[in-house]
Order: sequence, then structure tokens, then C-alpha cells
Amino acid sequence: MGFLHKIFVASGFLLIGLTTNAQKKSISQQVDSLLQLMTLEEKVGQLNQYTGRELTGPGSDKNTNKIKDIRAGLVGSMLNVKGARETREIQEAALQSRLKIPLLFSLDVIHGYKTIFPVPLAEAASWDLDAIGLSARIAAREASASGIHWTFAPMVDIARDPRWGRVMEGAGEDTYLGSLIARARVLGFQTNKLGGTDAIMACAKHFAAYGAAIAGRDYNAVDMSDQMLWETYLPPFKAAADAGVATFMNSFNTLNGIPATGNKYLQRDILKGKWNYRGFVVSDWGSIGEMLPQGFAKDQSDAAFKAITAGSDMDMESRAYKGSLVQLVKDGKVAVTLINDAVKRILYKKFELGLFSDPYKFSDTTRELSVLNDPQSRVEARNMARKTLVLLKNGKSVTGSSILPLQKSGQKIALIGPLGKATRDLEGGWIVKTDSNNVVTIFEGIRNKIGTGPLYAKGTDIAGNAVTGFNDALAAAKEADVIVLAIGESWDMSGEAKSRTSIDIPGQQMALFRAMKATGKPVVAVVLAGRPLTINELADSADAIVYAWFPGTEGGNAIADVLFGDYNPSGKLPISFPRNTGQIPVYYNHNNTGRPVTNPKNIIYKSAYIDAPNTPLYAFGYGLSYSNFSYSDLKLSNTDLSKNGKIVLSFTLTNTSKRAGEEVVQLYLRDLVSSVVRPVKELKDFKKIMLAPGESRAVDFTVDREKLSFYNQQLEWVAEPGEFEIMIGTSSDNILLSTKINLTANK
Ligand code: BGC
Repeated sequence: MGFLHKIFVASGFLLIGLTTNAQKKSISQQVDSLLQLMTLEEKVGQLNQYTGRELTGPGSDKNTNKIKDIRAGLVGSMLNVKGARETREIQEAALQSRLKIPLLFSLDVIHGYKTIFPVPLAEAASWDLDAIGLSARIAAREASASGIHWTFAPMVDIARDPRWGRVMEGAGEDTYLGSLIARARVLGFQTNKLGGTDAIMACAKHFAAYGAAIAGRDYNAVDMSDQMLWETYLPPFKAAADAGVATFMNSFNTLNGIPATGNKYLQRDILKGKWNYRGFVVSDWGSIGEMLPQGFAKDQSDAAFKAITAGSDMDMESRAYKGSLVQLVKDGKVAVTLINDAVKRILYKKFELGLFSDPYKFSDTTRELSVLNDPQSRVEARNMARKTLVLLKNGKSVTGSSILPLQKSGQKIALIGPLGKATRDLEGGWIVKTDSNNVVTIFEGIRNKIGTGPLYAKGTDIAGNAVTGFNDALAAAKEADVIVLAIGESWDMSGEAKSRTSIDIPGQQMALFRAMKATGKPVVAVVLAGRPLTINELADSADAIVYAWFPGTEGGNAIADVLFGDYNPSGKLPISFPRNTGQIPVYYNHNNTGRPVTNPKNIIYKSAYIDAPNTPLYAFGYGLSYSNFSYSDLKLSNTDLSKNGKIVLSFTLTNTSKRAGEEVVQLYLRDLVSSVVRPVKELKDFKKIMLAPGESRAVDFTVDREKLSFYNQQLEWVAEPGEFEIMIGTSSDNILLSTKINLTANK
């Protein structure tokens, strides 16, 4: 037996020894023992992540012999390899390495794996944390059955700029809602404990402040105050960490001049220091190397030095760690303890997942086949999609009844528009394993309701200047009683690297809308998009508007459920809709100026625009239902809040309509005078409540010191005595009950 082979066999035995003693030894002990066996090259190998194919970004090198590196123990993780068979094959190569350390397989499972759920921004519009958690759970079940251990989700970046295409991937503009959703998604992917065959590691990304790219241009620099960082952008990350998220991903942007990837303040001081985070940090795609063009590192070696020093543990596709870290350690520039720390964090997760006991536990073709064909996933996708649709407008017909819901019989429907029969566009971006033939189109959704296909004409394309289809559209419209106009963005107009300076509905689609309006028939606009679009004209003259985002595999059925009233819409906007791009960023929880507009008719020398109102077209929290709700009888247990006390607010919510429906009641507050100016309103609680026709229900909210706290100038989390306004409403701009409470000094 040759020398190398002896080591190979010996270490193989050692590893088996390690894992069979799993019960006796803690994971940390097992990690420490394994680390002892590793060469410096093998340690650095664990920090190296390759892509399986060129799916998501520039710069991957086709010629690298990745399998050779895997066999040599020089790779810790692969991204973009999927499938039980494919992952098994590559894992087999990893198990031929000297220490047989299994690979981690990672993938962007952002809103479903095979069964595509609505895009994350849409899911945020459901304000339904259980449903959001379930969506992540199903994605994890499917992905894990295809050999995936780790998803690069959730994206928890707060986003107030709809020019930025990646608003689609997050939970919108609000920190409170975004933090709760971050938690729900992490637990959905991971369950309470990694180790089950259907629990995959989540990844809170992009740390940090990536959503605040200047001018909404993707990858752009970010400049922001500490106050805003701590108060608005960091809390969803903290919520993910508190929920036990296994990994973090850093981001492409610079933050106040320092690239996030090389940012010690973010990764070492805050994340691994103040928050005592024990998981590991993966770089974003090539972001270590991108510190060169950013002007922060002079070469790959310098970039590797800066990234590892700052706390980036794994290098996704820069090859900077692989190329330079060994030498940096040998030259005494990087302490081996830094490397050890990063390696331990990664190995710990591999043990937690149970990969040392069974490296193939996720790569089971039989399970894959059954899980990926489980019809229940589609049922849940439809349930979720219905919850994400937002009814923005519902006008009256000539007879005085509401335009929506439509009638299943006795009303002739024309479905017009380039998205009426679309499949791929309903799925949105970040589709990693799918067959768009599975998608239920809007046409099919309507046909499923009325038993026969509606009249249909495409009319025009999503983009471009084609108007030749208008005639067919007009002919169909003339025969109909009502027009459903399916317009908006194509799937690839939102998402990564999809920033837009105009967020109008593209192409000739608005001309098509005008042509349809000119027929005199009622027009119901169904808008598909990954972001808020500027839709003033629709708001003014469409008869009804359903904002459908990118609703996923079951999108057509879900849209039809809402159009025909089989589901009563309950979605509320998680992000403000600007009137035009000049208003951006426009968000509800802004600070007041010294010259606020109190009367829109008098804006002279006020903080205002002379050509548009300050207010958005549709505000955060807005969304209609087929039911109507009234809010009454606000009562407080007390108006004074002592230091450790709490105040219970209660009121009566009544469904005043003849339809069962759900309302999202929202609690906002404002600190009226404080040492740092506070927003005019901040969401601090909400409840989604289903009421039968005519039913009344008492609703409670509790306010305690925590809800009144903020970061003061010294970045201490404090509540300052004084008056607070409490506001309860149906959206951020429709407050129906309000009162004041007083936080007493130190009692
Ligand atoms: C994106 C990440 C993603 C990664 C891997 C990057 O371009 O910014 O969000 O997880 O690619 O696909």
C-alpha cells in the first residue's frame, strides 16, 4: 500500500470513528478533531465554492477542472448543481478526497424549486406569516429531495426604490414586516433544527444595505447614516440571526466607502461580534474579486487578505481564497487562526446537516420523484398566490354594482393582452428547476371557472412597438361585456441586474388599454410585475385593478379565483407605489420636515413638489377587499406606560358587508418629541382577521417599552419618556382610530 493510500485509508477510518462517536462527542469536538487532520491547503479548500455551471454571473472559468479539485479536497461547496443523481455523482468525487469531507450543495431557491410560488415581494403582500413559512417549507422539501443542502434565501434587504429590480426578491420597504417575514422564511427552510432530510440551510442576504443602491442601480454604492443602517436595514438580518439562520451572504455594494465583502465593521464587529453569530458568511458571486474594480484591493491576494480579515468565510467564485490564502498564511500575513475559524464554522454546518453520517442523505432519486410530484405542493402554491393579489381599485358598473367579482355566467369576457396566455412570465425570476409548461395561464384559469375559454386576443407584445394586434383585440372586446386586460412586465424585467429608470408599463400596452377603454366596455386591469409600476392612468381610468405580481405556477387559477370571487382579496401592499420615478424614494415611514404639507392646496415654501403630490399613488399597507370593514370603540387599559409596563389597546372590527372576508389591521405609532427625529409613523404590529358577514370581533394590541424604543445618537436602544401617538388603520394612509399614550419617566 502506497504512502498516500495509507493516509487515505487511515483518515477514512478516523472519520468513521468521528462520526460513529457522534452521540458521545459534541459537534464542536468533532470539528476540532477533524481540523487537526487537515493540511492548510485542505482548510483553504473548505472556503472555496465553485459553480456547477454558469448560471448566475460573470467570470466562471469553464476550463477549471473542478472535479479534480474536489477529489483533492480543495472545494468546500458547489452552487448550481441540482438533482439527486447529479449531486450524488459529485459528492462521490468529494468522498474520494483524503479526508472525505462532503460538499455542500447550494442553490438560489428563492420562491420555490419545482413548484413555483409567487415572488417574495408578492408573498409579503399576503401579510400571512404562516403561509410564507409554508411556502419556504415546500421549497425546502422539493430542493432537499433534489440534493440541495443550502438555499441562498431569504433576501432580507429593505428596498424603498422600485427602480431596483431586486425589490422583487425581498419583503418590501418596512423593517417590522420584513423582520417577521425573515424569521418565517428562515424557519420554513430550516425547520427548528437542521438535520432532517427536508431541512435546508437558509442564507440571510445581502449583508448589508444592498437594497439602498444609489439611484436604484444594481450593484451601486450605498451611503447611509448609522442611524438608518441600524434602524431600517439591519433588523431583518438580526431577526434572521435570532431565528438561527445557518449562513449569511455579504453583498456587492460598498457601504460608506467600504465594500461589504471587506467590511470588518459589518461582519466582525456587528455580526460575529455584537450579535455573536456562529454560522458562516459566504461572499456574493465574485464579490471578493470585485474589490479590485471598486478600488479597495490592489490584486487578488490583497482582496483575499481583506475579505478573510473582515470576516468573509467562503469565497463564491472569485477563486481569490484558493489562489492566495495558503501563501498569505505562509508569508505570515494572515494568521492561521483566522482560517481555522472560518473552516470550523463551515464544518460545523456540515456536521449539523448530518452529512458526515450520510453524505448522500439528500440525494435520493426515489424520494426526489415522489416529492417533486406531490400534488399538494400545487394546492399550496395556489393558496399562497391568492393571498398575494392586491385589489387596488374596484369601480362601479352602470348598474351601480361593483365591477369585481365577475359573474361566471351571463357575462361575456374578453381576455386581452400579452400576458393573457403567458407561462414563463407568471413565474418571475430565479427559476432554477421548472418546466414552464406546468404553469396555469390566466386564460386557463378563467376557462376553469366558466367552462369555456374566454374571447382572447394578445393585442400587442410586452415591449416594442407592435400595434397590429389591436384590431383583433378590438374585435374581441366588441363582442364582450367586460374586458380583462393582462399587462405588465415580462419575467426578466425585474430581478438581479434589472434596474429601470422608467417603471411605466412598457411597450404599447397602455395604448392597448386606451383602445380598450374607448370601446366603452368596463376594463379590469390585471397587472403582472416584480415591482411597483407607475400606473396613474390605470388608477384614474381602469374600472378595476388587480395587482398580481409574478404569481407562480398556479398564477392563472389564483387570479381567476380573485376575479370571480371564489377568493376574497386580502393582500396589502408591502411597498409604496410612486406616482412617478421623480418621487423615488417614497416610503411611508419618513421623517417630518420643518415645513410639512398640511394642506395640499397650500404648498408654497413647503417641503413639496410643484408638479406632483408628496404622497404615493398607493400607500404601504393599502389593499381592498370585496368586504367592507369598520373600526370602532378604541379602548386603552391605561394611557400612562411605566418602565416595565404595557398598555393593551382594544377596538371592535366589524365586517359590514355580506361577504366573509379578511382584513389586515395595522398598528402604527409616532414618538412625538425625541432626541432623534422619529418617523411620522412606524408599523409596530398587525393582525390578519377573517370575519363572517356582519361579524364583529374585539381586537387587541399590546404596546410596551420595546415598541417605543429606537436608536439614539449614541446608537443605544432606548425609549424616551413623553407622548406617543398610536394609530390603527386599514393602511398607512388610512388611519381609522388614534389616541395618545405617555411613557412615564423611569418608573
Ligand atoms: C446574487 C446572489 C445569488 C448569487 C448566486 C449573485 O449574483 O447577488 O443573490 O445568491 O448570485 O447565484
